[in-house]
Amino acid sequence: MAQKLKIRVNGRVHDISASPGTPLLYVLRNELHLIGPRFGCGLAQCGACSVLLDGKEIRSCVTPVGAVTDHQITTLEGLPALWANERRASATRRKTPPALHPLQQAWIDVGVPQCGYCQSGMMIQAADLLSTNKNPTEDQIRVAMNGHLCRCGTYPKILTAIKRAAAAMARERGR
Ligand code: FES
Ligand code: FES
Repeated sequence: MAQKLKIRVNGRVHDISASPGTPLLYVLRNELHLIGPRFGCGLAQCGACSVLLDGKEIRSCVTPVGAVTDHQITTLEGLPALWANERRASATRRKTPPALHPLQQAWIDVGVPQCGYCQSGMMIQAADLLSTNKNPTEDQIRVAMNGHLCRCGTYPKILTAIKRAAAAMARERGR
């Protein structure tokens, strides 16, 4: 049965009416119109639906919305603000907030997407990785990204883009 719930997404609190068992993905896409996360398998197998929960990647297709009401959720749309907050916390802030997270910029620069369906989940997983490992090796990137599927085979470009983003973030922090 539908209940009134509050969820915090991309820094904003949203009042929603939903059954606590409703998959978070459905609420994000259908109620909040955040269409970064996608429905792929619905079984926690592909990663298309990934979002960050308190900074860690989760599969929103199998996460009941009632289980995340006390947590911070970040979708692809919230990555620029996440990066802005990290820079604000460091001594190296810029006057203007970034329009894109360095991962998103690297994805564009490298030309990663083909059909694009998997790419939101890929960037979310990469953001999780770079939050704990600021300079991952190629093997570490492969291990971290292992649970995400891309039917178009963009894996080599994803690896290049993550290394490029890590370097850009290091440069920004060093300013
Ligand atoms: S749609 Fe959630 S993991 Fe595939
Ligand atoms: S870019 Fe098409 S599924 Fe990954």
